[in-house]
Amino acid sequence: MSLLRLDKLLADAGLGTRSQVKLLLKKGLVTVNGEPARRPEQKVDPEADRIACDGTILSRQKFFYYLLNKPAGYVSATEDNTAPTVLSLLKDAPGRDLFPAGRLDKDTEGLLLITNDGPLAHRLLSPRHHVDKTYLVKAAGILTADDLARLEDGIDIGEKTPTLPAKARLLAPRTGASPEAPSLPGTEDGQEVSLVELTIHEGKFHQVKRMFQALGKPVLYLKRISMGSLVLDESLAPGAFRALTEDEIASLKRF
Ligand code: URA
Repeated sequence: MSLLRLDKLLADAGLGTRSQVKLLLKKGLVTVNGEPARRPEQKVDPEADRIACDGTILSRQKFFYYLLNKPAGYVSATEDNTAPTVLSLLKDAPGRDLFPAGRLDKDTEGLLLITNDGPLAHRLLSPRHHVDKTYLVKAAGILTADDLARLEDGIDIGEKTPTLPAKARLLAPRTGASPEAPSLPGTEDGQEVSLVELTIHEGKFHQVKRMFQALGKPVLYLKRISMGSLVLDESLAPGAFRALTEDEIASLKRF
């Protein structure tokens, strides 16, 4: 792709005349790949460079990044014959060849990165990189200190080796019927449940469910709340998505 002058690209994108665009550059409002750009004559590649003005990414970008709050009932795939896919929730979003970077089970909710940046997705998902993933887990029964220690030390889930050490924080050992019980789906009235924040550094198939199953305290509800530096935006209703900010993209690329 041929290179263009930054001021021309910004003017062509409708941000004003060349002199108005120069003012935006001077104010430091324009970034190229996350770095402030001030020189109108800077050469950019509209296909490869990510150009933003005041935090809004301009449309001629090649890679797109979305944070989806995945609802239960959707499969983490681009196509499926039996259930709606997460991609169907983004059908009006700009960007070609989008795919989910990673998988959440059909009944799992929460943070899913949707992108068309293959190299970035590959890095984030590579077992070598051990990107942290944090889940809110509601499990049947009351978790003991020993259960938490087993989660943290590594637990046998039927693989060759135990899971890697994790971080487990008990948020609520209480009964589903108590007035302060969190109103999350999956609780029968009166059933004892525990609410745990669990951070793991790997992504084996059904890993969280298998870890709790190994404790004899099956998962009733599962929601991912962060992956690496990306945190689920609680203002996003299940099924809603938004474009990542420049800062979020830049921190993901640091992995
Ligand atoms: N672990 C699971 O068991 N399920 C998910 O969806 C994600 C992590």
